[in-house]
Amino acid sequence: RHNFIIAIDGYSSCGKSTVAKALAKKLHFVFVDSGAMYRAVTLYFLRNKVDMDNTESVLQALADIHIDFVPNTAQTQILLNGDDISEEIRQMAVSEKVSEVSAIKEVRHAMVAQQQKLRSRRNIVMDGRDIGTTVFPDADLKIFMTASPSVRAERRYAELTAKGEDVTMEEVQENLSHRDHIDSTREESPLRQAEDALILDNSNLTQDQQLEIVLNAYYSIK
Ligand code: C5P
Repeated sequence: RHNFIIAIDGYSSCGKSTVAKALAKKLHFVFVDSGAMYRAVTLYFLRNKVDMDNTESVLQALADIHIDFVPNTAQTQILLNGDDISEEIRQMAVSEKVSEVSAIKEVRHAMVAQQQKLRSRRNIVMDGRDIGTTVFPDADLKIFMTASPSVRAERRYAELTAKGEDVTMEEVQENLSHRDHIDSTREESPLRQAEDALILDNSNLTQDQQLEIVLNAYYSIK
């Protein structure tokens, strides 16, 4: 029997990771946050002042980047060349650049290839933008999440200010719409709803309700 793959895609700050994590915990699947990988690459680019317009520099940087997930902690850690960067990649400085970096063809090819390699391991839940369309077009279950822009901005604002980041609601709103625009209009694997995806608008749903909907979908096809 083949490994089971659940793909969760959608706009920025829709709560994809929250649902994906809860699902993975419940089903004992491996959770993979593909956005964290693009954020790690972005952090590397910022730290090393990589010229994004220079393909040579981009390829050189990619060859030097090793990303690992350490799942055996309460919160999955993400390592960039051995360094724990789990917190740093959530900062605004990274969010502001990540969609530009993620639109680079060479970056996408490298990340998609790494994500596809994880398939051989175990049952997985992966969240991102192009998982059901490009990374695993044959995923067993595809969810496409949305929520109203104001709900999304409020959630992200609360999350950032709780961590002590000095941001305004306007900056958060601006960043979300900026990323959604670039993510949906880029040439290489843009954010798209897969035709066979189940749409989940969670503007008015609790986390438990969302989990129940996705679990029901899973049990109905399992
Ligand atoms: O999921 P998260 O919001 O952390 O992702 C950060 C950014 O990474 C997205 O705005 C998008 O530009 C990029 N991304 C992507 N493809 C994925 C996951 C994330 O392009 N599969």
